[in-house]
This record gives sequence, structure tokens and C-alpha cells, in this order.
Amino acid sequence: MNDLLVRAARGERTERPPVWLMRQAGRHLPEYREIREEYDFLEAVTTPEIAAEITLQPYERYRTDGVVMFSDILTVLEPLGFAYHIESGTGPVVDAPISGPDDVPQTYDDVGSSLAYVGDLLDRLDARVGDETGIIGFAGGPFTLASYAVAGRATRNHYPLRQFTARHPEAFADLLSIVADAVREFLQYQVAHGADVVQLFDTYAGVLPPADYQELILPLHRKILADLEVPTIVFVRNMGGRLDQLTATGADVIGLDWTVEMGTAREQLGDRPVQGNLDPSVLFADPETVRERTREVIEQAGPRGHVLNLGHGLHRDTPIEGVEAFVETAKSIER
Ligand code: CP3
Repeated sequence: MNDLLVRAARGERTERPPVWLMRQAGRHLPEYREIREEYDFLEAVTTPEIAAEITLQPYERYRTDGVVMFSDILTVLEPLGFAYHIESGTGPVVDAPISGPDDVPQTYDDVGSSLAYVGDLLDRLDARVGDETGIIGFAGGPFTLASYAVAGRATRNHYPLRQFTARHPEAFADLLSIVADAVREFLQYQVAHGADVVQLFDTYAGVLPPADYQELILPLHRKILADLEVPTIVFVRNMGGRLDQLTATGADVIGLDWTVEMGTAREQLGDRPVQGNLDPSVLFADPETVRERTREVIEQAGPRGHVLNLGHGLHRDTPIEGVEAFVETAKSIER
């Protein structure tokens, strides 16, 4: 029985920090690249048997204290009425993005039926490793999902969505609100299927001015994260200067990107559980450097309420030895 992840997420003092890595299942693993020769990304995501196998690949190699279900934040766009596909070189592309207020969805399909493959995946993970490691579910946040729904693809600085916000403030609020409702139901559905911890990835919401985040996004984050029966993690990039806004979301664990010093975050956050935050690029250094830099993060976070992770997703060409050094460092701590 390994419940380190849940215990640390609840703020307990742990004998060592639990460790997992954002985007641990994916292209840095040769066994993943091999499966992807047979299944394209969305096929793998929507086939629970394959998604379970991919989810467990990094667990088999590294024995992390959590496995993050292999899926994508964009899946929830489907019940909201947005079909999308992945184009190599571009990434996800929404087939018919929102071009004006009339395109904002008024309703959405039942999340548990549209995304039944996610429930099936979580059931399989629970049956296979439920006692051995933490099962991590997740959903995208309203700003990040709305950015795709409006721009249709990845954009620099999210100008299409921010321009839409300025032109159509009411439609923007309606869009965020309906996306948030679907996301909230989706996370509850994941908990019902055995997720031990859930993470809300509103990665891009940090591009908004603080007052706009406070007024437009924060209430939705609060609503999404309220009433979940498992520990929650919030992750928004570029919030280092305003961790108070992240704590106001009500998330149990504050996800930190690498642009904030862990020691500074700990001073500001007191005993609040934190997750992070080694710069993912450090894993390209020699293993001794990885160990040193990882130990610094662990020491600065302290023994209570720390989930060791990177400050954002693993790069696709990260060396295996870098990941091994990172995970082993967490496992070598005794306190
Ligand atoms: O930690 C995890 O593994 C959780 C699963 C997860 C993935 N992507 C898996 C994935 C999560 C939480 C994401 C986040 C995500 N996906 C965001 C939020 C921003 C962030 O990075 O935090 C966004 C905007 C997306 C949309 C998306 N999906 C992008 C931009 C890409 C990359 C496209 C590319 O060609 O590189 C995807 C595909 C995707 N999602 C992969 C993985 C592991 C790559 C799959 C592959 O190409 O093999």
C-alpha cells in the first residue's frame, strides 16, 4: 500500500516526498513511441486498454508514487460540441472554432456518456495498481480550454481569446461558465471512477492581468474544485508573483512552475501543500547535477505537504537517466 501522494497532498509530514512527473507518459519513452506506431494519439486516448498500458509504462520503469491517466485536456471539448483532431507539427486543431457570440454552446452532452472511455481507463488503473500507487485524474481549466475553442489551435499569448474577451465580454463569461460546468462534472466523474487525486490544468490563465484572473477565472476555479472528495491540485503557469490568487482557488495543493523559487513559495504559503517545481530542462544535465538540483527543491519545500514534480511537463526528448536521477532522489530521502 503506497498512499504517500494522498498523504502529502493532505498536508501530512511524509518520510520522503512522493514523486511523479507531469507528462510522464509520452514521447520520451521508447515503449510509448513503439505503441504510437500502431495507434494515433486520439485512438490511443479513446481505447482504454491501450491508454492503460501507456499510463503504466512510466510506472513500470520508474515506480513513481502516482500515475497520471493517459489522456488530454481537450477531450472535454467533445461533449461541449467541438470536434478536434491532431495535426503533426501543429498539435490539436478544433474543426469549427467559435467565431462569434452565437457559437457559444448553450448545453453540453452528458459527460459520463461522452467520455465513458475515461471512466473505463480509471477502472482499469484502479484494478491494476490501485493499492500500489496514486491514480491521478485531471481536467483542463476554463481559460485554457476556451483558448482552443476560440482560436482553434495553440497560439502565442492567446490573443484570439483575449480579443474575443474584449469584444464580447458577456459571451466570454458564458463560454467560461459552461466550460467550467462540464469540467466540474468531469472531475466528479473521475473521482467516482477511482481517481485518488485530481489536477486542474488551467495552464494559460496566468496570461491574464491579475484583476481579470481574480474577477473572471478565480470564481470558476473555486466552483470546479469545491466539493470534490479527493485532494485537488491547481496548476496555472506564471503565477509566482501572486500565489495568494492560487491559494484562493481552494485547491488542497498549489502547483508551482519553475519560475518561482521553492523556498520563497514555502515562506509565502506556510503549511499549504505544494507540488513542483524543478525546471524540466534540468533533466538534460548529468545525473549528479539532477540529484543536486532536486535535493535543493526538496529541502526548500520541507518535510510536510510536498509532492515532488517538475515545474511543467517533461520535454519529449528528455533522457531516461535524467528522469531516473530525479525519481531516485525523492526515494533516497529518509526523515
Ligand atoms: O501529465 C500528463 O501526462 C497529463 C496528460 C496531459 C497531456 N497534455 C498529454 C498529452 C495534459 C494535462 C496535457 C496538457 C495539455 N494538452 C494542455 C495544457 C497545457 C499544458 O501543457 O499544461 C494543452 C493546451 C494540450 C493540448 C495538446 N495535446 C497539445 C498542445 C499537445 C501536443 C501536440 C504535439 O504535437 O506535440 C497534445 C498532445 C498530447 N497530450 C501529448 C501528450 C502526452 C503528446 C502525444 C504525442 O504526440 O505522442
